Amino acid sequence: MSIHKVIIDTDPGVDDAAAILMALASPEIDVLGLTVVAGNVPLEDAAANACKIVGLSGRSDVPVHAGAPGPLVRDQVFGKYARIGAFGDDLVAGSGVRPADEHAVHFIVRKTREATEAGDPITICAIGPLTNIALALIQHPDVARGIRQVVSMGGAFTALGHRTPWAEFNIYADPHAAEIVYRSGVSVVVMPLDMTFQALFTQKHFERFAEEGGQAGAALFNLFSRFDRSDIDRFGRPGGPIHDATTIAWLIRPDLFKSRKAAVGVQVTGLTKGHTYADFHQKIAHVADATVVTDMDEAGFINLLIERISRYGRAAPPEAKLLGG
Ligand code: BDR
Ligand code: CA
Repeated sequence: MSIHKVIIDTDPGVDDAAAILMALASPEIDVLGLTVVAGNVPLEDAAANACKIVGLSGRSDVPVHAGAPGPLVRDQVFGKYARIGAFGDDLVAGSGVRPADEHAVHFIVRKTREATEAGDPITICAIGPLTNIALALIQHPDVARGIRQVVSMGGAFTALGHRTPWAEFNIYADPHAAEIVYRSGVSVVVMPLDMTFQALFTQKHFERFAEEGGQAGAALFNLFSRFDRSDIDRFGRPGGPIHDATTIAWLIRPDLFKSRKAAVGVQVTGLTKGHTYADFHQKIAHVADATVVTDMDEAGFINLLIERISRYGRAAPPEAKLLGG
Protein backbone atom coordinates (compact mmCIF):
# COMPACT_ATOMS: atom_id res chain seq x y z
CA MET A 1 0.00 0.00 0.00
CA SER A 2 1.45 3.37 -0.96
CA ILE A 3 0.99 6.07 1.65
CA HIS A 4 0.37 9.65 0.54
CA LYS A 5 1.76 12.40 2.75
CA VAL A 6 -0.93 15.06 2.51
CA ILE A 7 -1.69 18.60 3.63
CA ILE A 8 -5.42 19.33 3.38
CA ASP A 9 -6.02 23.00 2.56
CA THR A 10 -9.63 23.58 3.51
CA ASP A 11 -12.49 26.00 4.32
CA PRO A 12 -14.91 23.82 6.34
CA GLY A 13 -17.62 23.67 5.12
CA VAL A 14 -19.83 20.61 5.27
CA ASP A 15 -18.32 18.63 2.39
CA ASP A 16 -14.86 19.62 3.67
CA ALA A 17 -15.80 17.92 6.95
CA ALA A 18 -16.59 14.69 5.10
CA ALA A 19 -13.30 14.88 3.17
CA ILE A 20 -11.22 15.48 6.30
CA LEU A 21 -12.92 12.68 8.25
CA MET A 22 -12.47 10.35 5.28
CA ALA A 23 -8.75 11.15 5.07
CA LEU A 24 -8.20 10.75 8.81
CA ALA A 25 -9.82 7.29 8.71
CA SER A 26 -7.71 6.11 5.77
CA PRO A 27 -4.38 4.33 6.32
CA GLU A 28 -3.35 5.22 2.74
CA ILE A 29 -3.24 8.90 3.77
CA ASP A 30 -0.80 10.42 6.25
CA VAL A 31 -2.35 13.80 7.07
CA LEU A 32 0.51 16.15 7.99
CA GLY A 33 -1.86 18.95 8.92
CA LEU A 34 -4.86 21.03 7.96
CA THR A 35 -4.28 24.50 6.57
CA VAL A 36 -7.36 26.67 6.72
CA VAL A 37 -8.47 29.42 4.36
CA ALA A 38 -11.49 31.71 4.30
CA GLY A 39 -14.06 30.46 1.81
CA ASN A 40 -17.33 28.82 2.68
CA VAL A 41 -17.24 30.80 5.93
CA PRO A 42 -14.93 33.46 7.44
CA LEU A 43 -11.46 32.27 8.48
CA GLU A 44 -12.12 32.23 12.21
CA ASP A 45 -15.21 30.03 11.77
CA ALA A 46 -13.43 27.75 9.27
CA ALA A 47 -10.53 27.26 11.70
CA ALA A 48 -12.93 26.53 14.57
CA ASN A 49 -14.74 24.00 12.39
CA ALA A 50 -11.48 22.34 11.34
CA CYS A 51 -10.54 22.00 15.02
CA LYS A 52 -13.89 20.41 15.84
CA ILE A 53 -13.52 17.91 12.99
CA VAL A 54 -10.03 16.93 14.12
CA GLY A 55 -11.31 16.54 17.69
CA LEU A 56 -14.18 14.40 16.46
CA SER A 57 -11.83 12.10 14.61
CA GLY A 58 -9.78 11.43 17.74
CA ARG A 59 -6.69 12.65 15.86
CA SER A 60 -5.76 15.72 17.87
CA ASP A 61 -2.13 15.01 16.88
CA VAL A 62 -2.99 16.53 13.46
CA PRO A 63 -2.29 20.27 13.63
CA VAL A 64 -4.69 22.93 12.36
CA HIS A 65 -3.11 26.10 10.96
CA ALA A 66 -5.16 29.19 10.14
CA GLY A 67 -4.09 31.03 6.98
CA ALA A 68 -5.39 33.66 4.59
CA PRO A 69 -8.44 35.63 5.79
CA GLY A 70 -9.41 36.63 2.27
CA PRO A 71 -8.59 36.42 -1.43
CA LEU A 72 -5.46 37.88 -3.08
CA VAL A 73 -7.11 40.57 -5.18
CA ARG A 74 -10.87 40.33 -5.60
CA ASP A 75 -13.51 41.36 -3.09
CA GLN A 76 -14.39 38.64 -0.61
CA VAL A 77 -17.28 36.25 -1.17
CA PHE A 78 -18.43 33.47 1.10
CA GLY A 79 -20.17 30.19 0.30
CA LYS A 80 -23.82 29.76 -0.44
CA TYR A 81 -24.10 28.21 3.03
CA ALA A 82 -22.08 30.95 4.76
CA ARG A 83 -24.79 31.12 7.38
CA ILE A 84 -23.38 27.84 8.71
CA GLY A 85 -20.62 29.92 10.31
CA ALA A 86 -18.99 28.00 13.12
CA PHE A 87 -20.62 24.59 13.58
CA GLY A 88 -22.88 24.76 16.64
CA ASP A 89 -22.32 22.25 19.45
CA ASP A 90 -25.76 20.81 18.65
CA LEU A 91 -24.39 19.75 15.23
CA VAL A 92 -20.78 18.88 16.01
CA ALA A 93 -19.61 18.35 19.58
CA GLY A 94 -16.98 20.77 20.86
CA SER A 95 -13.37 19.68 21.29
CA GLY A 96 -10.34 21.00 23.09
CA VAL A 97 -8.41 21.31 19.81
CA ARG A 98 -7.13 24.82 19.03
CA PRO A 99 -5.31 26.20 15.98
CA ALA A 100 -1.51 26.06 16.17
CA ASP A 101 0.42 29.34 16.37
CA GLU A 102 2.21 28.86 13.03
CA HIS A 103 0.52 30.50 10.03
CA ALA A 104 -0.80 28.08 7.39
CA VAL A 105 1.47 29.50 4.68
CA HIS A 106 4.56 29.04 6.88
CA PHE A 107 3.47 25.49 7.63
CA ILE A 108 3.16 24.71 3.90
CA VAL A 109 6.60 26.24 3.26
CA ARG A 110 8.20 24.32 6.15
CA LYS A 111 6.63 20.96 5.26
CA THR A 112 7.40 21.20 1.54
CA ARG A 113 11.02 22.12 2.29
CA GLU A 114 11.32 19.16 4.64
CA ALA A 115 9.82 17.00 1.88
CA THR A 116 12.35 18.30 -0.64
CA GLU A 117 15.19 17.49 1.73
CA ALA A 118 13.80 14.01 2.33
CA GLY A 119 13.36 13.48 -1.44
CA ASP A 120 9.70 12.65 -0.82
CA PRO A 121 7.40 15.44 -2.11
CA ILE A 122 3.96 15.82 -0.58
CA THR A 123 0.43 16.10 -1.97
CA ILE A 124 -1.78 19.07 -1.21
CA CYS A 125 -5.51 18.39 -1.33
CA ALA A 126 -6.91 21.85 -1.99
CA ILE A 127 -10.61 21.85 -1.14
CA GLY A 128 -11.15 25.57 -0.68
CA PRO A 129 -10.03 28.72 -2.49
CA LEU A 130 -6.34 28.39 -3.44
CA THR A 131 -5.11 31.51 -1.58
CA ASN A 132 -2.78 29.81 0.93
CA ILE A 133 -1.09 27.69 -1.73
CA ALA A 134 -0.65 30.63 -4.11
CA LEU A 135 0.89 32.70 -1.30
CA ALA A 136 3.35 29.92 -0.46
CA LEU A 137 4.35 29.59 -4.14
CA ILE A 138 4.71 33.37 -4.67
CA GLN A 139 6.68 34.03 -1.53
CA HIS A 140 8.92 30.96 -1.79
CA PRO A 141 9.05 29.50 -5.32
CA ASP A 142 11.28 26.64 -4.11
CA VAL A 143 8.15 25.26 -2.40
CA ALA A 144 7.14 23.83 -5.79
CA ARG A 145 9.93 21.25 -5.55
CA GLY A 146 8.43 19.81 -2.38
CA ILE A 147 4.96 19.35 -3.92
CA ARG A 148 4.22 16.09 -5.70
CA GLN A 149 0.79 17.30 -6.83
CA VAL A 150 -2.01 19.68 -5.93
CA VAL A 151 -5.34 17.87 -6.09
CA SER A 152 -7.72 20.78 -6.52
CA MET A 153 -11.47 20.47 -6.09
CA GLY A 154 -12.53 23.32 -8.30
CA GLY A 155 -13.64 24.51 -11.66
CA ALA A 156 -16.34 23.53 -14.10
CA PHE A 157 -16.08 22.94 -17.82
CA THR A 158 -19.58 21.90 -18.80
CA ALA A 159 -21.43 21.91 -15.44
CA LEU A 160 -21.63 25.68 -15.24
CA GLY A 161 -24.09 27.80 -13.30
CA HIS A 162 -23.12 26.61 -9.84
CA ARG A 163 -22.02 29.75 -8.01
CA THR A 164 -22.37 32.11 -10.97
CA PRO A 165 -23.47 31.21 -14.51
CA TRP A 166 -19.78 30.73 -15.33
CA ALA A 167 -17.92 29.65 -12.23
CA GLU A 168 -17.49 27.10 -9.48
CA PHE A 169 -17.11 28.54 -5.93
CA ASN A 170 -13.48 27.68 -4.99
CA ILE A 171 -12.14 29.28 -8.15
CA TYR A 172 -14.62 32.18 -8.13
CA ALA A 173 -13.67 33.03 -4.53
CA ASP A 174 -10.02 33.58 -5.51
CA PRO A 175 -9.45 33.33 -9.27
CA HIS A 176 -6.01 34.99 -9.12
CA ALA A 177 -4.80 32.38 -6.63
CA ALA A 178 -6.12 29.56 -8.82
CA GLU A 179 -4.40 31.00 -11.88
CA ILE A 180 -1.11 31.24 -9.95
CA VAL A 181 -1.30 27.63 -8.77
CA TYR A 182 -2.44 26.25 -12.14
CA ARG A 183 0.38 28.13 -13.92
CA SER A 184 3.07 27.39 -11.34
CA GLY A 185 4.47 24.32 -13.05
CA VAL A 186 3.37 22.15 -10.12
CA SER A 187 1.51 19.03 -11.19
CA VAL A 188 -2.21 19.82 -10.81
CA VAL A 189 -5.17 17.44 -10.72
CA VAL A 190 -8.43 19.33 -11.31
CA MET A 191 -11.59 17.79 -9.88
CA PRO A 192 -14.40 19.89 -11.36
CA LEU A 193 -18.14 20.01 -10.84
CA ASP A 194 -18.59 18.07 -14.08
CA MET A 195 -17.29 15.06 -12.17
CA THR A 196 -18.43 15.78 -8.58
CA PHE A 197 -22.05 16.14 -9.75
CA GLN A 198 -21.98 12.48 -10.86
CA ALA A 199 -22.34 11.10 -7.30
CA LEU A 200 -25.46 12.17 -5.43
CA PHE A 201 -25.92 11.36 -1.76
CA THR A 202 -29.41 11.08 -0.34
CA GLN A 203 -30.85 10.95 3.17
CA LYS A 204 -30.50 7.17 3.02
CA HIS A 205 -26.72 7.57 2.75
CA PHE A 206 -26.61 10.15 5.56
CA GLU A 207 -28.53 7.71 7.76
CA ARG A 208 -25.81 5.16 7.14
CA PHE A 209 -23.21 7.69 8.33
CA ALA A 210 -25.23 8.03 11.55
CA GLU A 211 -25.87 4.32 12.01
CA GLU A 212 -22.36 3.11 11.26
CA GLY A 213 -19.99 6.02 11.86
CA GLY A 214 -20.06 6.71 15.61
CA GLN A 215 -19.79 10.36 16.66
CA ALA A 216 -18.13 11.36 13.41
CA GLY A 217 -20.89 9.79 11.35
CA ALA A 218 -23.55 11.41 13.54
CA ALA A 219 -21.96 14.83 13.03
CA LEU A 220 -22.00 14.34 9.26
CA PHE A 221 -25.63 13.23 9.44
CA ASN A 222 -26.46 16.40 11.36
CA LEU A 223 -24.57 18.67 8.98
CA PHE A 224 -25.91 17.17 5.75
CA SER A 225 -29.46 16.98 7.11
CA ARG A 226 -29.36 20.64 8.13
CA PHE A 227 -27.64 21.93 4.98
CA ASP A 228 -29.40 20.05 2.22
CA ARG A 229 -27.52 20.11 -1.08
CA SER A 230 -30.07 18.31 -3.18
CA ASP A 231 -31.32 20.10 -6.27
CA ILE A 232 -33.72 17.99 -8.26
CA ASP A 233 -34.16 20.66 -10.95
CA ARG A 234 -30.48 20.66 -11.59
CA PHE A 235 -29.60 16.98 -11.18
CA GLY A 236 -32.86 15.45 -12.37
CA ARG A 237 -32.89 12.99 -9.48
CA PRO A 238 -32.77 13.20 -5.67
CA GLY A 239 -29.54 13.80 -3.78
CA GLY A 240 -26.60 16.16 -3.66
CA PRO A 241 -22.84 16.00 -4.22
CA ILE A 242 -20.07 15.81 -1.59
CA HIS A 243 -17.50 17.56 -3.77
CA ASP A 244 -14.44 17.72 -1.55
CA ALA A 245 -14.32 14.05 -0.57
CA THR A 246 -13.59 13.14 -4.19
CA THR A 247 -10.01 14.43 -3.76
CA ILE A 248 -9.37 11.90 -1.00
CA ALA A 249 -11.06 9.11 -2.96
CA TRP A 250 -8.86 9.94 -5.97
CA LEU A 251 -5.75 9.29 -3.86
CA ILE A 252 -7.09 6.06 -2.35
CA ARG A 253 -8.89 4.56 -5.36
CA PRO A 254 -7.81 6.25 -8.64
CA ASP A 255 -9.39 3.31 -10.45
CA LEU A 256 -12.83 4.80 -9.61
CA PHE A 257 -12.12 7.81 -11.85
CA LYS A 258 -11.39 8.69 -15.47
CA SER A 259 -9.23 11.65 -16.43
CA ARG A 260 -7.83 13.52 -19.42
CA LYS A 261 -4.82 15.75 -19.84
CA ALA A 262 -5.38 19.40 -20.77
CA ALA A 263 -4.00 22.88 -20.31
CA VAL A 264 -6.29 24.63 -17.86
CA GLY A 265 -6.73 28.36 -17.27
CA VAL A 266 -8.81 30.75 -15.20
CA GLN A 267 -10.61 33.97 -16.09
CA VAL A 268 -9.58 36.41 -13.37
CA THR A 269 -11.61 39.58 -14.05
CA GLY A 270 -14.94 40.79 -15.33
CA LEU A 271 -18.34 39.22 -15.28
CA THR A 272 -16.95 35.77 -16.05
CA LYS A 273 -14.30 35.82 -13.32
CA GLY A 274 -13.67 32.40 -11.87
CA HIS A 275 -14.52 30.69 -15.14
CA THR A 276 -12.17 27.78 -15.87
CA TYR A 277 -11.36 26.63 -19.39
CA ALA A 278 -9.53 23.56 -20.63
CA ASP A 279 -7.74 22.98 -23.91
CA PHE A 280 -8.41 19.24 -24.23
CA HIS A 281 -7.34 19.08 -27.88
CA GLN A 282 -4.19 21.23 -27.68
CA LYS A 283 -5.67 23.80 -30.03
CA ILE A 284 -3.85 26.71 -28.40
CA ALA A 285 -1.69 25.43 -25.57
CA HIS A 286 1.11 23.08 -26.48
CA VAL A 287 1.53 21.50 -23.11
CA ALA A 288 -1.44 19.61 -21.65
CA ASP A 289 0.00 19.78 -18.18
CA ALA A 290 -3.06 19.37 -15.94
CA THR A 291 -4.97 16.18 -15.21
CA VAL A 292 -8.69 16.90 -15.43
CA VAL A 293 -10.84 14.26 -13.76
CA THR A 294 -13.90 13.85 -15.96
CA ASP A 295 -15.86 10.82 -14.72
CA MET A 296 -16.34 8.70 -11.66
CA ASP A 297 -17.92 5.45 -10.58
CA GLU A 298 -20.81 6.77 -8.47
CA ALA A 299 -21.52 3.62 -6.46
CA GLY A 300 -17.82 3.00 -5.93
CA PHE A 301 -17.26 6.48 -4.50
CA ILE A 302 -20.38 6.45 -2.31
CA ASN A 303 -19.53 3.03 -0.88
CA LEU A 304 -15.93 4.05 -0.24
CA LEU A 305 -16.94 7.18 1.66
CA ILE A 306 -19.52 5.31 3.76
CA GLU A 307 -17.06 2.52 4.49
CA ARG A 308 -14.37 4.98 5.64
CA ILE A 309 -16.80 6.89 7.86
CA SER A 310 -18.05 3.58 9.31
CA ARG A 311 -14.51 3.00 10.66
CA TYR A 312 -15.28 5.62 13.33
CA GLY A 313 -18.15 3.45 14.51
CA ARG A 314 -15.91 0.41 14.78
CA ALA A 315 -13.24 2.30 16.72
CA ALA A 316 -15.62 3.33 19.50
CA PRO A 317 -19.29 2.66 20.19
CA PRO A 318 -21.50 5.47 18.89
CA GLU A 319 -22.73 7.73 21.68
CA ALA A 320 -23.58 10.63 19.50
CA LYS A 321 -26.54 12.87 19.73
CA LEU A 322 -28.57 13.14 16.54
CA LEU A 323 -30.59 16.15 15.60
CA GLY A 324 -34.08 15.72 16.98
CA GLY A 325 -32.91 12.65 18.93
C1 BDR B 1 -16.78 23.75 -3.40
O1 BDR B 1 -17.25 24.97 -2.85
C2 BDR B 1 -17.58 24.79 -1.50
O2 BDR B 1 -18.86 25.26 -1.25
C3 BDR B 1 -17.45 23.33 -1.18
O3 BDR B 1 -16.90 23.14 0.10
C4 BDR B 1 -16.52 22.81 -2.25
O4 BDR B 1 -15.17 22.91 -1.86
C5 BDR B 1 -17.78 23.20 -4.41
O5 BDR B 1 -18.01 24.15 -5.41
CA1 CA C 1 -14.52 23.33 0.44
